[in-house]
Amino acid sequence: MKVDFADRIGRIPPYLFAEIEKTILEKKRQGGDIISLSIGDPDIFPPPFILDALREEVSNPRNHNYSFSQGEPDFRQAVSSWYEKRFGVEVNPQSEVVALIGSKEGLANVARAFVNPGDRVLVPDPAYPVYANGSTILCDGVPVVMPLLERDGFKPDLDKVNGNGAKMMFLNYPNNPTGATVDKTFLGRVVEFAEENDVTVCYDNAYSEICFDGYRAPSILEVDGAMEVAVEFHSCSKTFSMTGDRIAFAVGNKKLIEGLTAIKSQVDSGPPVYTQRVATKALESYVGDRPPRDVEKAIETYRERRDVFVKSLCSMGFQCDKPKATFYIWLNCKGGSIKFASKLLDVGVVATPGIGFGNYGEGYMRFSLTQPKERIEEACERMAKIL
Ligand code: MLT
Repeated sequence: MKVDFADRIGRIPPYLFAEIEKTILEKKRQGGDIISLSIGDPDIFPPPFILDALREEVSNPRNHNYSFSQGEPDFRQAVSSWYEKRFGVEVNPQSEVVALIGSKEGLANVARAFVNPGDRVLVPDPAYPVYANGSTILCDGVPVVMPLLERDGFKPDLDKVNGNGAKMMFLNYPNNPTGATVDKTFLGRVVEFAEENDVTVCYDNAYSEICFDGYRAPSILEVDGAMEVAVEFHSCSKTFSMTGDRIAFAVGNKKLIEGLTAIKSQVDSGPPVYTQRVATKALESYVGDRPPRDVEKAIETYRERRDVFVKSLCSMGFQCDKPKATFYIWLNCKGGSIKFASKLLDVGVVATPGIGFGNYGEGYMRFSLTQPKERIEEACERMAKIL
């Protein structure tokens, strides 16, 4: 029997980080000492109180049944209280919150609920590949690129974006891969654009807690009118170093939450109850709008690494600013990114070529600061020898 993929599979490239993972494995198999600054997967362990909570919750026999499709009521209440503490925003845990098995899942499923074949979807470029591929193309939608240019601070120029007939828009600040940040004025313009063009906004705020130098990332839901047009995605992955635990949440417009929940009820059964209980404790650990000490320490560690890495790049002759958020460094590499990545690979340093995040990412490299400082210094020494 001949088994054929559906046509839409042919329209998406292989998942960027799965491909890089293969390269790393092959290099390690050959005996290389590889320093991977590619995927944004924290090397810092989850805080001890999270590990204790995991042990406790996983060994509770009551925590092994199905969850509600929308998530456990206690978890949704914790999300709602966290929004109040962190952003001063009131959300209804009954109708404006849904638990997710990682925000990637939510980003893909929200499109399934609202994007019809042929619908135009506004996606930033460069960007986390899920917006164009997992969300838009897998729903037979048509990605319409919003270039993120260095001269615009890696923000879309909304006066130039043609939102006519677009169904949905994806945005992500603090931004992966560029590390760019925005303020509430920009988010106000996004909401205005959404209202003018009848476009819903999916706002990925997964890096809201990894901020430096006094910057605090806002929620789009702080903006008047945002609840009418937007849904925001948050995750425990980066804040609490829980990427593998797959626990996240979406908050926002009731209809968007209802659609996302309807899809989830058909295709999954929600995150495990025990991870939701742990995430509840994680969110409750905030004191006012501040994360617990262990998270503050992790953020400080990323800041130190950022400073070491940027200083080193500048001493190699590159022009590179310190990002105010995320653990990514987006470097203008003054040439082709694939060629640059392969040069780095020769000395055992793995980083992500900007082209992997879209055509407008060409000419840049993304470095993820998810290795100890000593390994980052070692990577810099190796790079300095060849660049
Ligand atoms: C990244 O490294 O950009 C992502 O966080 C990885 C992923 O979600 O697959």
